[in-house]
Amino acid sequence: MSDLLSIILAAGEGTRMKSDLTKVLHQVAGKPMVEHVIDNINEINSQVVAVVGHQGDKVSKLLEGKGVKSVLQKEQLGTGHAVLQAASYIKEHQGSVLILYGDTPLLSPQRLKQLVRQREEQGAAAAVLTAYLEEPSGYGRIIRDNNGYIERIVEEKDASSTEKEIKEINSGVYCFDSKCLEAALTRLDNNNAQQEYYLTDTISYINETDGVIIPVVCEDNNEIIGVNDRVNLSLVEKIIRKRINNCHMKNGVTIIDPTVTYIDEGVTIGRDSIIYPFTYLVGKTEIGSYSVVGSHCRLNNAKIADKVNIVDHCIIQDSKISDGVNIGPFAYIRPGSIVEKGAKIGDFVELKKARIGENSKVPHLSYAGDVEIGKGTNVGAGTIFANYDGQDKHKTRIGDNVFIGSNTTIVAPISIGDGGKTGAGSVVTKDVPEAVTVVGVPARTFDKTKGGSEDN
Ligand code: UD1
Ligand code: CA
Repeated sequence: MSDLLSIILAAGEGTRMKSDLTKVLHQVAGKPMVEHVIDNINEINSQVVAVVGHQGDKVSKLLEGKGVKSVLQKEQLGTGHAVLQAASYIKEHQGSVLILYGDTPLLSPQRLKQLVRQREEQGAAAAVLTAYLEEPSGYGRIIRDNNGYIERIVEEKDASSTEKEIKEINSGVYCFDSKCLEAALTRLDNNNAQQEYYLTDTISYINETDGVIIPVVCEDNNEIIGVNDRVNLSLVEKIIRKRINNCHMKNGVTIIDPTVTYIDEGVTIGRDSIIYPFTYLVGKTEIGSYSVVGSHCRLNNAKIADKVNIVDHCIIQDSKISDGVNIGPFAYIRPGSIVEKGAKIGDFVELKKARIGENSKVPHLSYAGDVEIGKGTNVGAGTIFANYDGQDKHKTRIGDNVFIGSNTTIVAPISIGDGGKTGAGSVVTKDVPEAVTVVGVPARTFDKTKGGSEDN
């Protein structure tokens, strides 16, 4: 394949979405629609320019982050007018120009490559990706000549009743020779039913002057689905999710029921991990091998190592879980948390910016915010790390092999030394030195010889 220039048309508002957000920014499988299109193009190595209009600033900003330039189409006067906005790019370019829409996220890189390659191999002036639809209404129809080449494309609104019966439609994806496109664009007018500058008119101009236009029939009708409303959006979402899930399963991940498992693009999962139904793996989540994610979990930007067992109904956000950790059910792990090897976070436990050391346990009904806990420590049921004094958040440091009795309240800022212990129900307001046991409200040092407690 020669050098390629791709033009993405993404200026339309998408009125039928009935949304404050412009259409191409709506998310599909956790990623804006137009980003899917760009990522697909990027796999075939192309210079990319997008034509933006509605919420152009927002769209350009997203594109810029992906290294894509954009040109503004102030008024949406038709697909031909949109392409004209990129005229300077076309003029500078020698070779194939691929044109496609920002609202068709299912087009595969292979399909795009096939279109470009066929035009180049056959020396055609242009190639149009077409499809045969049982229900072609709404689409432009392909009019072929006796040799099977494309003579012109007629829009539904301009079509005669016999033309409307044609089932081969224009998908809106084209590959042009840059020079032929450049010449044809100068001839466009808006002399038609919609008073728009139709890109499709370039086809008849090229046919008259520059050579043949070949149809490339897309065998998978799903690929050309364009999102016009939220019904299409959910359909496209479903198809992309199915592709993603299939890919994981083929790579050795068990997904118990892929129809109700929601995995964003970019999530990675290691071999022999198992994902139970109704679970969402979103953002930049990474899961290692031999890990299990139970049902009704939501993992967002979570880094999960190997042999981790996450029982049902857990939420894990922007946190890191090391090998062999057990979590849940019903654990809520909030951003900035780190759970080290072999630790256990049990039912109804909330962590926030908490580091739980190796083999430590927070098994039941606890809140641990802004906490650092060492190795081999046990936090009893109902323990609360009181990190907020009404104005500021404070930190707690707990050493190794500490035993926190059930229902302890630990009032931060505070630290408990290695081997320290707190009695059940104590309220700890002062630091506890190494190997010291405290009890009571407020907690005092427990003295075994006297069988009582005194100030620490
Ligand atoms: C277009 C084709 C039609 C084809 C169909 C496939 C024309 C004249 N018709 O029709 O043959 O079957 O696509 O979906 O090209 N856009 C702009 N600026 C504009 C107008 C459109 O950027 O001024 C963008 C839209 O954002 C959209 C795409 O171009 O992503 C297609 O526009 P749309 O109005 O949906 O074209 P159709 O009428 O569906
Ligand atoms: Ca459309």
